[in-house]
Amino acid sequence: MAPRTLETSAADFLPERKTLPALRTAVQGCRGCDLYKNATQAVFGEGRVGAEVMLVGEQPGDQEDLQGRPFVGPAGKVLDKALEAAGIDRDDVYVTNAVKHFKWEPRGKRRIHKKPSGMQIAACRPWFDAEVEAVRPQVIVAMGATAAQALLGPKFKVTQERGKVISTGGIPIVATVHPSSILRAPDSESRHAEMARFIDDLRVVAAQIKQRRRAA
Ligand code: URA
Ligand code: SF4
Repeated sequence: MAPRTLETSAADFLPERKTLPALRTAVQGCRGCDLYKNATQAVFGEGRVGAEVMLVGEQPGDQEDLQGRPFVGPAGKVLDKALEAAGIDRDDVYVTNAVKHFKWEPRGKRRIHKKPSGMQIAACRPWFDAEVEAVRPQVIVAMGATAAQALLGPKFKVTQERGKVISTGGIPIVATVHPSSILRAPDSESRHAEMARFIDDLRVVAAQIKQRRRAA
């Protein structure tokens, strides 16, 4: 057996048959790291087998944690708008996160998002890998530094490499910003500019799918 490099991992909690429904059920029992303890539920990805695009965020937010679905809160609204503007059909997209449980800390009555650690991201990876295996997307979109660095290495810089198709030897990856960063833009002018750039990055993804459809 290979030596264990992690204290814990989700690997022990994966079902034998890794279909999306089986994975979705099993993830609720995951104890691969300590994030399950303070979360309402695990939030698994959504979309169909064969979806051409897999979008990867960081982790569920407050709304996602309560509703049990990815990208249904404010960042999800931004994402939906941008996908539509880029001409990407929601039905062709599988949406998920690098980490499946919400990590937060209290601030007054609110739950404030806290960045997952490298250990937690690594512990959760088997779920993501199983999703990729089951869905078999044509292109993966890493949104934000957490997803991008999880998939492309710790030195990867989204600001420098965004909106390019990155060949990996496996499924090509396009990195872009996280939609929540658009919500954090300081004024409406920069918010519009950031949104336009985000849409441009997604247009690269749309072009990639079209090209692959033509080649198929
Ligand atoms: N932010 C994420 O990274 N993922 C979600 O599902 C929601 C917000
Ligand atoms: Fe398991 Fe991931 Fe949740 Fe940690 S965050 S308990 S590894 S599903």
